[in-house]
Amino acid sequence: MDSRPGRILIPRDEIAARVTSLGEAIRRDYAGRAPILVGVLKGAVVFTADLIRAIALPVSLDFMSVSSYGSGTRSSGVVRLTADLSVSIEGRDVIIVEDVIDTGRTISYLRRNLATRHPRTLALCVLLDKVARREVEVPVDYAGFAIGDEFVVGYGLDHDGFHRGLRDIAVLERDPAR
Ligand code: PRP
Repeated sequence: MDSRPGRILIPRDEIAARVTSLGEAIRRDYAGRAPILVGVLKGAVVFTADLIRAIALPVSLDFMSVSSYGSGTRSSGVVRLTADLSVSIEGRDVIIVEDVIDTGRTISYLRRNLATRHPRTLALCVLLDKVARREVEVPVDYAGFAIGDEFVVGYGLDHDGFHRGLRDIAVLERDPAR
């Protein structure tokens, strides 16, 4: 089966405008504080890089890496931590930054994991929310766009490791095997 980016679902200018407004909302909510953004590798790298520049506060940055067992276009549901934070978050205002929530299993695992480290507050900022796919309820504090059950690539999101560098978010187009 072959695949490529097809129809553009969210063009770059809409992404930029939404990131700006998310950054403003976070600045208002965290006025007088110095939150730490925790980007979830790898998909959230592009979003995190833009978001940190949209928050007019002293913000620090760290990353975690998690992966689901299995491959293909669906989450397997089993999450493991593959790289941890480099700093303590005890007493800090933590904002997890994710590119997409699908079943909710990854973010549910991350929230539980980070909560054990006693942050002052723990929030979630996600660019894309596949609401209809949710299997585990997770509170979403800041959401960019609600999208349907489509496999999307670009702006950090991949298919088999590729297409993360696309500036727009596009629907993956698949050819039936010949
Ligand atoms: C994606 C995304 C989330 C997870 C969401 O990561 O970044 O971490 O899937 O799915 P869930 O809500 O069903 O758990 P992916 O496994 O594609 O890894 P990547 O970020 O390295 O691309």
